[in-house]
Amino acid sequence: MTIAPDRPAGRTHWTDAQLLHALEEVVERELNRHQGVAKEWMPHEYVPWSQGRDFDGLMGGEAWSVEQSRVTDVARVSLVVNLLTEDNLPSYHHEIASMFGRDGAWGTWVHQWTAEEGRHSIVMRDYLLTTRAVDPVALERARMTHMAEGFESDNSHSMLHSVAYVSFQELATRISHRNTGHNSGDPACDRMLARIATDENLHMVFYRNLLKAALEIAPDQAMRAIADVVINFRMPGHSMPGFERAAVQIAVGGIYNLRIHHDDVLQPVLRHLKVMEITGLGPEGLQAQQELGFFLEGLDTQATRFDERQAAILARRQAAQERRAG
Ligand SMILES: [Fe+2]
Ligand SMILES: [Fe+2]
Repeated sequence: MTIAPDRPAGRTHWTDAQLLHALEEVVERELNRHQGVAKEWMPHEYVPWSQGRDFDGLMGGEAWSVEQSRVTDVARVSLVVNLLTEDNLPSYHHEIASMFGRDGAWGTWVHQWTAEEGRHSIVMRDYLLTTRAVDPVALERARMTHMAEGFESDNSHSMLHSVAYVSFQELATRISHRNTGHNSGDPACDRMLARIATDENLHMVFYRNLLKAALEIAPDQAMRAIADVVINFRMPGHSMPGFERAAVQIAVGGIYNLRIHHDDVLQPVLRHLKVMEITGLGPEGLQAQQELGFFLEGLDTQATRFDERQAAILARRQAAQERRAG
């Protein structure tokens, strides 16, 4: 893809305010497209309420214990990480409302997106508590700790960095929910997470299309933003209690790891935007594009090493299981 040489004469650097203004029309078009394809859905329909019963405490019911949980060990870890991530919505709303504003098409998107995201924590918590999939006391304590920390974006200094980040992050969330469902061992959980993943995909498409327009308007700056975001990417839940340990279990369990991050999150967005094929960049854009190329090669190599380690761990686990069984 060659960038048409119709940039405003003499424009060397776009400010965030100029970009927000220049992209407003694209936001309006994408918002209309989004509203045409996003289907209404009801969180309560995804919860098997008949499996629910009172807990101990005020209701005098039965306390939670792990044998009550029907989901797999890795899904139990991943569901909590994913729910706590969704729970931090007030902080995300604050971040994007501060960056994109609350007026016009940008504001409409910010509020629409926030309302849609709200469904995700509602349905997940209802499912988890009704089916006794996770420890409700540990979940609530982790939510308090995580939310009380707040979330501060790594990209709040730049509008283009913010748009690039959410393009990848929404897809990362989609893949993480989808793979958790597939590995949960419970068809009801799988169906609920597939529904959430559909929302996340539409969010990704919105931001990715916006990023595409930004690449056309301000190619060098957008390329720099994409390179920075890909190179420094970390999930929004990275600050939650026990994240590192959970991330290892989630990686080995095949829900989210370097291979998945490279193949199913970074590459689809980069390929769709033809980021590595864009020509006609200035020195800043060209340098960013080259850095991105080097980084992706290195990441692919690291992902291959991870694949090998993962295969070895899984083979050891399998052998230990067979020894126990035999
Ligand atoms: Fe979400
Ligand atoms: Fe989302």
